[in-house]
Amino acid sequence: MIEADKFAYHKYIEEQPDIVFNIAEGSSGVNRESQIPAMLELLNIPYTASDPLTLSTCLDKARTKEILSYHNVPNPKFSVVNSKEQLINSGIQYPLILKPVAEGSSKGIFDSSLLTGIDGLNGTLDKRVAEYRQPFIAEEYLPGREFTVGILGNGERAFALPVVEINFDALPEHVNPIYSYEAKWILDGPGNQIEMYKCPADIDNELHEKIEKAVLNACRLLNCKDWSRVDVRLDAEDNPHIIEVNPLPGILPDPKNNSCLPKAARTAGFTYAELINFTLNSALARYGMV
Ligand SMILES: Nc1ncnc2c1ncn2[C@@H]1O[C@H](COP(=O)(O)OP(=O)(O)O)[C@@H](O)[C@H]1O
Ligand SMILES: [Mg+2]
Repeated sequence: MIEADKFAYHKYIEEQPDIVFNIAEGSSGVNRESQIPAMLELLNIPYTASDPLTLSTCLDKARTKEILSYHNVPNPKFSVVNSKEQLINSGIQYPLILKPVAEGSSKGIFDSSLLTGIDGLNGTLDKRVAEYRQPFIAEEYLPGREFTVGILGNGERAFALPVVEINFDALPEHVNPIYSYEAKWILDGPGNQIEMYKCPADIDNELHEKIEKAVLNACRLLNCKDWSRVDVRLDAEDNPHIIEVNPLPGILPDPKNNSCLPKAARTAGFTYAELINFTLNSALARYGMV
């Protein structure tokens, strides 16, 4: 185990590992997930999963959406905003959702981030931009069902794990059907577990195919490697849109912690160890090490 801090570089030189299994999230800045992979590239040490370009791009929701939009992959309309004034001039229709441009795990996305009009803002945008030290994106709200899909492998052999549905019926009636900070970390948590997920999702073949096609396409376009997880939500006509791409997905091993990739892998018949080894083997194959 090598801690992902500034001493890591020297430890890699000392240890000379054959390959590094990378789970380093970093701690600050939009390039935080890229720092360790970039060190490893400089040292010519192979590592699992995506490269710095993909990791930084996917952490920046605006850059990700620009790439998806260029390739005509459906994703909700958006605008990058730093202030209430910019939001008013953005032209994004209500309802909309406000999200920090480069966070994860629902950081900065609260139940109150879903706005039905400018009145709901209450001065919070300017405050949050200062607090999170980054722009926010204002994104058209998708009213439909939500799914998240794990992808394993590479190239022609990349495949989707069973689709996970986020079950908003499990939330109390007064909260919005979004996977907000409150929903992810306060309403659901150890000792207070709610049935937030259904895997496999209860969907017909047609929708299943549409979702799989969209997520595999998104991973291919963003050059995700070995493993990743893509969030998807349906619009009012039940068409899937990509919400975000996670090339460094959460992998908490304890089923009680409700990590979606391990959950989907378990549904597909993988043990946790098999999920990890599958990912490692995908990387070894990419580097021609098997
Ligand atoms: N455009 C949108 N329409 C509807 N819900 C959304 C939209 N964007 C985000 N959400 C809700 O907010 C949650 C968190 O947003 P997401 O972009 O996945 O951020 P994070 O990186 O924190 O997971 C999603 O799981 C979804 O429930
Ligand atoms: Mg998400």
